[in-house]
Amino acid sequence: MENSWVVLALAGLLTLVLLSKFLHSPRRKQNLPPGPKPWPIAGNIHLLGSTPHRSLHELAKRYGDLMLLKFGLRNVLIASSPDMAREFLKTNDAIWASRPELAAGKYTAYNYCDMTWARYGPFWRQARRIYLNEIFNPKRLDSFEYIRIEERHNLISRLFALSGKPILLRDHLTRYTLTSISRTVLSGKYFSESPGQRSMVTLEKLQDMLDKWFLLNGVINIGDWIPWLAFLDLQGYVKQMKELHRNFDKFHNFVLDDHKANRGEKNFVPRDMVDVLLQQAEDPNLEVKLTTDCVKGLMQDLLAGGTDTSATTVEWAFYELLRQPKIMKKAQQELDLVISHDRWVQENDYTQLPYIESIIKETLRLHPVSTMLPPRIALEDCHVAGYDIPKGTILMVNTWSIGRNSQHWESPEQFIPERFEGKNIDVTGHHFALLPFGAGRRKCPGYSLGIRIIRATLANLLHGFSWRLPDGMSPEDISMEEIYGLTTHPKVALDVMTEPRLPNHLYK
Ligand code: HEM
Repeated sequence: MENSWVVLALAGLLTLVLLSKFLHSPRRKQNLPPGPKPWPIAGNIHLLGSTPHRSLHELAKRYGDLMLLKFGLRNVLIASSPDMAREFLKTNDAIWASRPELAAGKYTAYNYCDMTWARYGPFWRQARRIYLNEIFNPKRLDSFEYIRIEERHNLISRLFALSGKPILLRDHLTRYTLTSISRTVLSGKYFSESPGQRSMVTLEKLQDMLDKWFLLNGVINIGDWIPWLAFLDLQGYVKQMKELHRNFDKFHNFVLDDHKANRGEKNFVPRDMVDVLLQQAEDPNLEVKLTTDCVKGLMQDLLAGGTDTSATTVEWAFYELLRQPKIMKKAQQELDLVISHDRWVQENDYTQLPYIESIIKETLRLHPVSTMLPPRIALEDCHVAGYDIPKGTILMVNTWSIGRNSQHWESPEQFIPERFEGKNIDVTGHHFALLPFGAGRRKCPGYSLGIRIIRATLANLLHGFSWRLPDGMSPEDISMEEIYGLTTHPKVALDVMTEPRLPNHLYK
C-alpha cells in the first residue's frame, strides 16, 4: 500500500514535469513564420548584402510574404506584400507603433527624444500632435509657400545660367531642398552658400551632416543585433554617430540661441518652425515637458526629413523620364496645354496636371525613398496570418517589394505612369500596395510638405527646360543602381543638359 502511494506520487510528479516542459517548449507553443536557417551568432545578417530590400525581395519568393529572420540574436519579421503590410500597419497598428531602441536613436537623436526614434507613448503622441496641428497644418504650410517659390526660382535661374553645359542634377536638387527647408524650419540661412560668406557652417558641411545622418540611421550596426559585441563598435558606426551628434548639437545650439535672442517680448508671432517649437516648449499645459534636447531632436527631424526625401524622389523621376523621352514629352505637352508659356507652375495647379501626378506616383511606386520602412517593435504578443509573434519582435516592411507585387501591379518592373490615369490611388497609407510614406500611426507626418515640394519642383523643371543626356550617352547607359540607407539613392549621380523652353524674362 505504502509503495503504491510512492509510485503514484512519483508518476504524478513526472507527469507535472513533462506537462510543464511540453507547455513551455517554444517549438510546441509557437507557430513562427518561416525563414532561412540562421547561422550561430550572426543569424541571417550575411544574407542582406548591400541592398537589403532586393535580397529580401528574392528571399520572400522562397519563404513567403511574411518571413522570420534573425539579425544577430534578434528576431526580425519581414513583411513583403500589401496584405501583410495591412495586417501590421492597420489591423495590428497599435501593437506595432513603437520603434526599437537602436544606437542611431540613442546617439544621433538625443536619446530617442525626437519623432523618428521615440518610443510610442505620451512624448511621441504629443510631438506628433505638435507636428500635425502646429507645423504641418495647411495654413502654416501656405504661409511658407513664398519661401518655396523664391528658392525654386533661384534653382531655375541657376539652371538657366548653366544651359547647354553638363550639370549634376543631384547637387542642384539637394541645394534647393536644403535652402527652402532650412528657411522654413530656421528662417535665416545658418549656412553659407559661397566661400566668402561668414556663417555657422558651409552648405556642403550641412549637406554632408544630413547625408551622414541618413546613412548612419539606416546602417546595420552589429552592436544593435549582438548586444554583447556592442562595446567593441566593430564597424566604427557608434564613433561616427557620436561625432555627428556633436556637430549637429553645436549647430542646433547656435540656432536656438539666435532664435531666443531675436524674439520680441510680447505678442510674439512665430516666424518659422523652430519658433513654433520654442513656443510649445513654454506651454505650461503640455502633458510632457519639451526639454531643450527634445526641441533639438524635433528640429533635426524637420531638417533631415524635409531635405533628402523630396530631392531624391525628383531625382529618380528624372532618371526614369530620361530613359523614356516619350513620357517626358507627354508631360511637357500637358504643361503647355494647361499652364502655357507665360508663367511658372504654382503648387495649386497640380489638380489640373493629372499626368504629372501619375509620373510622381509611378516614381514613388518603383523608387520609394524608404525602401524598407524604419523598424517597428511588437509591444505585446500577437497573432498575424495564423502565426504567433512574440512581444519584442522587430518588424520591417519592404515597400520596394510591395511596389513590385505582381498580383497588384501589371508589368511591375516597368515605368508606366498611365497605370494611374483615371484611378484614385492614394499614396498616404490607405492603399497598401503603394506605401512611400508608410502607414498607420507612424506614417510620415511631413507628407503634405514633401508632396507639395515634389509636385511643384518636378512640374516647373519640366515646364522650364528641355532635358537631355550629355553627348555620347544614351538612355540605356543610365545606371539605376542604388545605395541603400534610411533613404535609398541612385548610386551614380547623373550629368544632364538643359535648354530653356520659356521666354527668357521668366528666368531672371
Ligand atoms: C518625399 C517626401 C517624403 C517621403 C517619401 C517620406 C517618407 C517617410 C516614411 C516612409 C516614413 C516612415 C513611416 C513609417 O514608419 O510608417 C517617414 C517618417 C517620417 N517623416 Fe517623412 N517623408 C517625406 C517627407 C518628410 C518631410 C517633408 C518631413 C518633415 C519636414 C518628414 C518627417 C518625417 C518624420 C519626423 C518621420 C518619423 C515619424 C514617426 O516615426 O513617428 N518627412 N517619412
